Amino acid sequence: MLKDIQEVLFDEKKIDQIVTKMGRQIADDYRGKELLLVGILKGANVFMADLMRKINIPVKLDFMAVSSYGMSTESSGVVRILKDLDHSVEDKHILIVEDIVDTGLTLHYLMDNLKSRGAISIAACTLLDKPERRKVDVDIHYSGTEIPDVFIVGYGIDYGEKYRNLPYIAALKPEVYVK
Ligand code: PRP
Repeated sequence: MLKDIQEVLFDEKKIDQIVTKMGRQIADDYRGKELLLVGILKGANVFMADLMRKINIPVKLDFMAVSSYGMSTESSGVVRILKDLDHSVEDKHILIVEDIVDTGLTLHYLMDNLKSRGAISIAACTLLDKPERRKVDVDIHYSGTEIPDVFIVGYGIDYGEKYRNLPYIAALKPEVYVK
């Protein structure tokens, strides 16, 4: 895997700093409320695991699996639910946990979809935000850091299902994905 990496953009220490800050902010904002974290599989699974341990108030967890990219590097714009929530969201405050917001199509779809299910509030948090790539407007309430339009992998994020287990976030060498 390492031969495919161009540059490490966020190492483990930097990621920990960002996630710790986000967790504190979320705990402050939701103290006294019933918070349900909804992790969006598969990409957000690493971030979700770290973030929830930095939120020092009681939280519940659920997961959805969606796909808009498949094996491609371009979003198809069609979001498919591969796994839905296990529990009802009625009377809960939902925080959607994403690893990255790119075109915004996935988050836009999820916000709309979850709004119809009777939650008290819905907000979104993402570790990484690529605003240059946005195709639809989305409200992101907690954003770890903005990144330029480079192809990244690691810390849950894949290319062709590879590299998710890298502990850092890195840019891939273009020759890996430019055919
Ligand atoms: C990635 C990521 C977000 C989405 C963001 O998921 O985890 O859910 O793309 O892109 P968008 O803003 O352009 O919609 P992907 O569909 O690659 O599935 P994965 O999480 O299983 O890797």
